Amino acid sequence: MRSPVLLFSFPMILQGQSALITGSGRGIGRAIALLFAKQGASVFLCARSHDQLASTAAEISDRGGQVTFATADITREDDCRRIVDSARETFGPVTILVNNAGHYGPVVPVEEYPLADFDEVIAVHLRAAFLLTQLVLPEMYDHEHGAILNISSLSAKSAFSWGSAYAAAKAGMLGLTRVTAAEAARKGVRVNAICPGPVTETIMSQELGATLAKKIGVSSEEQLAGFLQSILQGRGQTADEIAHAALFLCSNASSAMTGQSINVDGGAAFF
Ligand SMILES: NC(=O)c1ccc[n+]([C@@H]2O[C@H](COP(=O)([O-])OP(=O)(O)OC[C@H]3O[C@@H](n4cnc5c(N)ncnc54)[C@H](OP(=O)(O)O)[C@@H]3O)[C@@H](O)[C@H]2O)c1
Repeated sequence: MRSPVLLFSFPMILQGQSALITGSGRGIGRAIALLFAKQGASVFLCARSHDQLASTAAEISDRGGQVTFATADITREDDCRRIVDSARETFGPVTILVNNAGHYGPVVPVEEYPLADFDEVIAVHLRAAFLLTQLVLPEMYDHEHGAILNISSLSAKSAFSWGSAYAAAKAGMLGLTRVTAAEAARKGVRVNAICPGPVTETIMSQELGATLAKKIGVSSEEQLAGFLQSILQGRGQTADEIAHAALFLCSNASSAMTGQSINVDGGAAFF
């Protein structure tokens, strides 16, 4: 007689997939890398900080996952080309691309925002997502298989002061998601986005909270509590919660979804 355990055991849902995840040394990218590797994907990590990448990679390989990494600054075209080539050489064609890397940039009004910073914030979020998408798509089309996930933000759908480049980049990523999805839909490739709310455990979120608190003259705790009040669930999200939404959008569980942006924000944006 067959064991009932076997009847209910499921294969790992990303078995055989090769995922390139940007900004995967810490924060949300790290959580996505850990979960994707746990679900059978070979994961290629990249960011600028070697030690954080090495630590995430060690955590994955200690658990039996397939992982490698390379330092890269994805605002540089050459670095983007190098990581895609390197991922391909290590694990074969990239079948999943997660455009996650980023930083918030200056917290200043539009009229004071330095142009060089504006360009840099657009470059790390939007331009790099565009470039990496360009680099992986032809091979995805050849195999009629692939998933691209853009990590956007609640900022793409809200109106928070003092983050113009960030909001513009994140809203731009939603446009990029829809247009790429339209071009790719009949070629076996799906393209989606996630808009996280405040993921309060990450460095980016904590630094932003501290800066905002200072600007408005309250403590970091008061600033955060005020912001969380505006969210239906009254709390921030965890990196792991974002990673589970990412797993859904990059797996066959979401096979009929493309061109979408999913809000993983505890109930903050409603379109
Ligand atoms: N935390 C939130 O509340 C929140 C909310 C909505 C959306 N998001 C988005 O989620 C994504 C991840 O953010 P997080 O909160 O996890 O932030 P984080 O902990 O600061 O992680 C950001 C990652 O991006 C990498 N990165 C930054 N600039 C890079 C560059 N030029 N080239 C390569 N890698 C770069 C960082 O590594 P290095 O510094 O070592 O390069 C790091 O691994 C971002 O796109 C962010 O906008 C975050």
